[in-house]
Amino acid sequence: MVMKPRAPADAAAAVDEVIRPSRLNCIDLSSSDVRESVSLLKQACLDCGFFYVVNHGISWEFMKEAFEQSKRFFDLPLSEKMRVLRNEKHRGYTPLLDELLDPDNQLHAGDYKEGYYIGVEVPEDDPEANKPFYGPNVWPDSGVLPGWREIMEKYHRETLEVARRVARIIALALDLDIDFFDKPEMLGKPIATLRLLRYGSGQISDPSQGIFGAGAHSDYGLITLLATDDVPGLQICKDRDATPRIWEDVAPIKGAFIVNLGDMLERWSNCIFKSTLHRVLGNGQERYSIAYFMEPSHDCLVECLPTCKSEKNPPMFPPITCATYLSQRYSDTHADLTQYKTGQT
Ligand code: OGA
Ligand code: NI
Repeated sequence: MVMKPRAPADAAAAVDEVIRPSRLNCIDLSSSDVRESVSLLKQACLDCGFFYVVNHGISWEFMKEAFEQSKRFFDLPLSEKMRVLRNEKHRGYTPLLDELLDPDNQLHAGDYKEGYYIGVEVPEDDPEANKPFYGPNVWPDSGVLPGWREIMEKYHRETLEVARRVARIIALALDLDIDFFDKPEMLGKPIATLRLLRYGSGQISDPSQGIFGAGAHSDYGLITLLATDDVPGLQICKDRDATPRIWEDVAPIKGAFIVNLGDMLERWSNCIFKSTLHRVLGNGQERYSIAYFMEPSHDCLVECLPTCKSEKNPPMFPPITCATYLSQRYSDTHADLTQYKTGQT
């Protein structure tokens, strides 16, 4: 993405927008009617790639626990959080304004949110252990936050299982075998990243000033499973080229995941399934969310799916490995780490 400065007149154009509620399909993972689930999911993926997932097997009590632990971390003094500043492997703390998701519209600053990345770790003796997206994680001092790491590791494990189950329904919706994504070269060693997020209290977004909790973006990877508290803020825009842009509020549902498809799956499906623009507006209330980004294995070749091409509809993109694709997208949207080393936080 090219960062280009924009004139104030352009900024005014960006606020020409309409807000209304969204109506997303809801997939019940405990349902025995697989055909119904596939049909609801397929409809959602063809339309906008956003849907709710309920009865996914992770208890509400445990989700609440993860949110409480997230608050404990973000409530630490900044100096303590900077000790686990994100590293080159994208593990650890991302301070306020670190990320700039929508440079065209965020004229003055990045996102008004803090984050914490926890990724997958593969054993040290694994020949792939040194690949850029495989561990190790960084953790806050266990003396400062006892039990924190264990809760986050458990959340990571359990959400990965939900993501795998959703991927099976996606495979069916794409007319692929149910275990298409389960193959070792696909989701054998997924680059699954949990990201705790906090949108600060007192932060009120103002699209006319280019101030956002999270700027408009689409996610990079395969699928994202988002858990939120009950503070609203997430909005989706199904048609980024419409004037005015129509933003739809996505209401939180207690205990549910809001699942969305990422750009990699859009590309993989030859744009048949959609990855949709979304953003977060702060309303002044503190808001917590936990995003879980599920991407395939490092060297997985993302090449037009066999069911998504025909003579009339040839592949629109060349094959690319998952890691190459992700590296590019991360460096497009995160600040240069060296700025922190010179003390400008
Ligand atoms: C993201 C994202 C939404 C939210 O992290 O990619 O879109 O509600 N988060 O925090
Ligand atoms: Ni997102």
